[in-house]
Amino acid sequence: MTLTIEDMATFCKKKGFVFSNSEIYGGIAGFFDYGPLGVELKNSIKASWWKTFVQDRDDVVGIDGTTITHPKIWKASGHADCFGDIMLECTKCKERFRGDHLIEDSLKIQADGISKEDIDKLVTENNIKCTKCKSDLGKAHEFNLMFTTQVGPIVSDESKTYLRPETAQLIFADFKSVLDTSRQKLPFGIAQQGRAYRNEISPRDFLFRSREFEQMEIEFFIHPKETKCSLLTKKDQDFEFQLLTENNQKKEQEHTKIKLKDMIKNKVAGEWHVYWIKELYQWFVDIGIKKDNLRLREHLKDELAHYSSACFDIEYNFPFGWKEIHGNANRGTFDLEQHEKVSKKSMAVFNEETKDKVIPRVIEPSQGTDRAFLAIMFDAYEDDKKRGNVVLKLNRKLAPTKVAVFPLVNKLEKEARDVYDTLRKEFTTTFDRSGSVGRRYARADESGIPYCVTFDFDSKDDKSVTIRDRDSTKQVRVKIEDLKEKLINLVS
Ligand code: GAP
Repeated sequence: MTLTIEDMATFCKKKGFVFSNSEIYGGIAGFFDYGPLGVELKNSIKASWWKTFVQDRDDVVGIDGTTITHPKIWKASGHADCFGDIMLECTKCKERFRGDHLIEDSLKIQADGISKEDIDKLVTENNIKCTKCKSDLGKAHEFNLMFTTQVGPIVSDESKTYLRPETAQLIFADFKSVLDTSRQKLPFGIAQQGRAYRNEISPRDFLFRSREFEQMEIEFFIHPKETKCSLLTKKDQDFEFQLLTENNQKKEQEHTKIKLKDMIKNKVAGEWHVYWIKELYQWFVDIGIKKDNLRLREHLKDELAHYSSACFDIEYNFPFGWKEIHGNANRGTFDLEQHEKVSKKSMAVFNEETKDKVIPRVIEPSQGTDRAFLAIMFDAYEDDKKRGNVVLKLNRKLAPTKVAVFPLVNKLEKEARDVYDTLRKEFTTTFDRSGSVGRRYARADESGIPYCVTFDFDSKDDKSVTIRDRDSTKQVRVKIEDLKEKLINLVS
């Protein structure tokens, strides 16, 4: 039986990964809280991303900007005027629908980037009604997704600003300050992790489309004339993607496999763009996502965001279809030029090598943290019929709890706790004494704990314990004095 998104939401709640926000007051659509296991997993995902793309690299530095900013940032970026979706409202019950989703759900066709005129036409031609009360729908119109707020005690147009809908603009606004203080030179990147807010018309599919979520974004700045990517290695040339091109989509064809060198040769995307797509695709594989469940989808021309000249999504094969978990856009010089125009501050960089002053162009790998979390959970979830329980096969490095320690029977609790105390300083460790050992293994499997350590009747004499592996269920006997070292090796 296929695991639905609702099943995953129920599982996440049951195990303490994710809860609905404000549940005691009936909840609020599009907002979620991470529970004890969820926050650990999310933090590990963020730490892995930060280490890979900031700490392990010489050419990317980080910032941490605010979520409320000067409103002119959003004027310059275009978000205040044209960051929206098309909405339709029921003439009777006032239920609101996101236009492209309504068309996709009603007609089972792809409707990304569809215009409001085409939506109205399809609604009339196909007699599409309100899905709730079956009444007529009003005309399609634009709806801006920005959350507004006031800064200071006086409510006026001057004090109006927005909660950021993406982390990216803070990077552009801080670009000159970073350049002046970090001793970076082109090409280089600025990274940021943090919250973003979008007043989605119809938040749905659990964490997939929420109103408050997290992003991990890099803006990578390149000399506008530099088309060759110096970072691509020989080995990278044979890196293989599953790719759905614009043409594939128009002809309703499946994705095909393509090597990185052929992406470049066939001019599917420029070298720098392909490099950054590969970096993120590889990161997903490194954190344990099955490569077959990933593919790259080229944006259709009429689907491109206002700032982007080319964009590829990394999609994950969810049970509810292939869906975007990462966006990788070529933003060109759009944002820095816009900020230069609106702020009247130069955004140009003097380039030592070429001795010219240029506005750099930008490649943007943009990652939704919550969508990465969701893909990781689906990829790890296995309903093991033989064991009779779910096994959450999370990458050991990301697992929220690394080790569970059990006394075989309660009278061995003191000795087992001594073992637990030595391990908990090194790993996130849990102690479980309730129920049969089989029940405790099942509980650990469902929480994704890779190793269970049992202190049994022989342990006192042979000064050893058993380690049980979550995925294979194999058990090995290990001297207590060697236990920490052994687990360090296993977990890493
Ligand atoms: N700075 C570019 C940008 O924000 P985007 O495609 O709108 O581009 C990037 O968003 C990523 O943010 C998406 O690939 C997705 O992972 C995540 N994201 C966007 N909207 C989201 C939402 N409503 N809920 C959860 N994640 C979202």
